[in-house]
Amino acid sequence: IVLDFSKLIKWIPTFIDGTIVTIVLSLMTVFLGSIIGLFATLLKQSPNKFFKAIAAVYTQVVRGTPLLVQLYIWLYGLPLIGVTLPALPFLGDVYGSREFLTAVVALSINSGAYICELLRGGLEAIDKGQMEAGRSLGLSRKQTMRSIIIPQAIRVILPGLGNEFIAMIKESSIVSVVGIFDVMYTSNIIKASTYSIFEPLIVVALIYFFLTFTLTALMKQLEKRLSVYD
Ligand code: ARG
Repeated sequence: IVLDFSKLIKWIPTFIDGTIVTIVLSLMTVFLGSIIGLFATLLKQSPNKFFKAIAAVYTQVVRGTPLLVQLYIWLYGLPLIGVTLPALPFLGDVYGSREFLTAVVALSINSGAYICELLRGGLEAIDKGQMEAGRSLGLSRKQTMRSIIIPQAIRVILPGLGNEFIAMIKESSIVSVVGIFDVMYTSNIIKASTYSIFEPLIVVALIYFFLTFTLTALMKQLEKRLSVYD
């Protein structure tokens, strides 16, 4: 088999469009997932048993079932019982489609459960003695949290969020199976009109690798900077 990449040159804009969709989708997912994850973490810390249970069920169910199944449930299952997310046409064909909004919701809720565990891990990584030390200095619980515990937890959490972003860049490729035009989907489009599949797949792999490699390098920089305060 002879690989011919030259026929892909005219598809460069398509690859770029798909790459932007992948980045936007992953960014939105991690951003919204962080809000959901924070909220779930607060529920888990709450003294209210009911809230605690809700948060526990949420993280267990989401992390215990495949993202693909969750996406299908949001997109094809829930509409059957009247839960349909709308299309937002003013956002354009790709970003405004019902599929895109649904994917953002499904992926964010998925990511939120992983981020919740990450936040909990970050807070638990801080020695219990730190709270006692803060309290014995005359700080309130809240003040100790804010000025002693959280700043230290951030050093654990920030790299974790970076990893989650990298994970979502790759995991979001699943949306291509429901027709969302992300970078993975570009290989389908190109296959359909050029009949070649190997070359576009290699390009897609290289794009994902470029994205994750760059992000990993950025994370290393950030971690170095954070460790200066040690
Ligand atoms: N591929 C796995 C799944 O389908 C992992 C999902 C990872 N999600 C995340 N937010 N890190 O369940």
